[in-house]
Amino acid sequence: MLLTTSPTAEGSPDMKKIHILDKDFSISITEETIQTRVRRVADKINRDYKGKSPVFVCILNGSFMFAADLVRYLDIQPAVTFARFSSYRGTETTGVVRELLGVTEDLKGKDVVIVEDIVDTGITMKALLPVIKEKGAETVEIACFLRKPGKLKVDLDIKYCAMDIPDDFIVGYGLDYDGYGRNYRDIYTVIDNK
Ligand code: IMP
Ligand code: MG
Repeated sequence: MLLTTSPTAEGSPDMKKIHILDKDFSISITEETIQTRVRRVADKINRDYKGKSPVFVCILNGSFMFAADLVRYLDIQPAVTFARFSSYRGTETTGVVRELLGVTEDLKGKDVVIVEDIVDTGITMKALLPVIKEKGAETVEIACFLRKPGKLKVDLDIKYCAMDIPDDFIVGYGLDYDGYGRNYRDIYTVIDNK
């Protein structure tokens, strides 16, 4: 079987491990913690953008769950749009940055918040910032769900970040291993079986 989780009740020890393709993962951040941290980011954005209508540019595919939760905690009125800009295959960053697709909105004079699942090396975000600025955005800030400070390779100003995590590869809450694992409500860390 490709994906396995035991069909036992939620919260039992068997639910805390998953298997995807050739790797095992164990639960590392629970849904409860995730929601607390996402809410905290939303509160900060609510304060900083009070009376404004920023455009949230959510980067597919990874940010879809974070974006959905984040915008539901907002009490300002943002525009929400999705874009695709990926440089990642498997568990290692390739450093190959591709084009930004899907932003058809006029960003001229707008306050833009880029919503990203995880900043790892930072190469993706670093390359994206000038693209958004070229579209005439007045301000551009980054809101990421996770950040791996130990892997950051570039100088990047991240205004909103829900959590810092160790360098290990993770899945869940939108994040994938070769396309799988995005559906989990919790975050799972790879178990290194070497
Ligand atoms: P960066 O350019 O190295 O910062 O890579 C950022 C992108 O890599 C993210 O948007 C994710 O799609 C992906 N990524 C980085 N670390 C992980 C991870 O631990 N699990 C799944 N995807 C990851
Ligand atoms: Mg991504």
